[in-house]
Amino acid sequence: MTRVWCLVVLSCSVIMVTRADAPRYHQELIRTLQTGKLETVGIYFSSPFLKKETRIHPEDPLPHGFNSSLPVKVVIHGWMGNKNHITIDPVKNAYLAQLCCNVITVNWEDGAMQNYDLSRYMVDIVGQKVGELLHNFFTRTNISSGDVHILGHSLGAHIAGNIGKYFNGTIGRITALDPAGPLFKLKSTDACSSKDAIFVDAIHTDVGILGEKTRRGHVDFYPNRGFPPQPGCYLLDILTFSTCSHLRAPLLYAESILLPEQFLSVECEISELFTSIRKCRPKNNLISTTKRQMIFMGEATPKNATGVFYLETNNAAPYGKGKHLFV
Ligand SMILES: *[C@@H]1O[C@H](CO)[C@@H](O)[C@H](O)[C@H]1NC(C)=O
Ligand SMILES: *[C@@H]1O[C@H](CO)[C@@H](O)[C@H](O)[C@H]1NC(C)=O
Ligand SMILES: *[C@@H]1O[C@H](CO)[C@@H](O)[C@H](O)[C@H]1NC(C)=O
Ligand SMILES: *[C@@H]1O[C@H](CO)[C@@H](O)[C@H](O)[C@H]1NC(C)=O
Repeated sequence: MTRVWCLVVLSCSVIMVTRADAPRYHQELIRTLQTGKLETVGIYFSSPFLKKETRIHPEDPLPHGFNSSLPVKVVIHGWMGNKNHITIDPVKNAYLAQLCCNVITVNWEDGAMQNYDLSRYMVDIVGQKVGELLHNFFTRTNISSGDVHILGHSLGAHIAGNIGKYFNGTIGRITALDPAGPLFKLKSTDACSSKDAIFVDAIHTDVGILGEKTRRGHVDFYPNRGFPPQPGCYLLDILTFSTCSHLRAPLLYAESILLPEQFLSVECEISELFTSIRKCRPKNNLISTTKRQMIFMGEATPKNATGVFYLETNNAAPYGKGKHLFV
């Protein structure tokens, strides 16, 4: 715990220097630096029939293999990531294996490879830049924003929110995979919010360390109460500064694409989640004993769902306990 607070306090103090207390010219310098990192932001098309993803340029013809009658999935990495990061590949590959969708990955590596505070305060401008690129592409392909699903991990979740803001909330779905916590407040205007898309779902797996407790979606899932260490991450979290738990959300999501009924979840008050979890667990662990609403977490989450949901998972893949077993 001590180490965690060091990180947060350290980041805050850096921020206080760079944002709040800095002279105006200093802030302008930082914005110029951040804007310079936007030049390489790109969107890439992946297809099971292509060896490598292809970058989508505004003037190019449609990429080979793009099928305008299929839905579009857009996947975004977080801090220190890139388009082939471990938070993107499992999700991308699961979709490609289904032959279900057009998969677009976002690369904002130049921005993501900075000090955390610099990257964090770029989520608005990266979101806008990606919004412009996607808007151009959707116009050329006759894709309606309502058919688009954007998934982002960590800072990528907040970028997804800002893309949603760019599209005025008309994107079909945004999935926030363990949205980044440090330097985000409940009311941060550049954070992911349920207003950013027609349907927003969030999965929290590293509450209080790299992720956040704050609800960001119409529906928010807290696997194993959302706190680190997630099952199987006990030692790894110590060695990797909670990264194991933080990376769990995209891994759970990727599994749900392949096995949509793996993650049965039960409705829970957010206060119960943090203080009296026993009330959320079905009696004798039999799902027939609860009158609470139950839905699947992940790809199969119903678009009309709202609220906070609890579930338990395994230590290692397959993480889901299936629909018949709660614990
Ligand atoms: C595009 O997707 C539709 C719907 O799945 C399918 O019927 C059609 O064959 C696909 N077109 C191509 C060129 O693959
Ligand atoms: C998009 O729609 C317009 C008008 O309906 C049509 O002319 C054009 O060929 C379509 N483009 C694609 C890529 O389907
Ligand atoms: C969002 O709304 C603004 C203001 O009405 C409009 O100018 C803009 O074109 C809209 N954006 C998109 C992507 O439709
Ligand atoms: C959501 O829609 C499904 C049908 O698609 C319906 O069975 C279910 O009752 C709805 N749930 C809520 C909470 O409205």
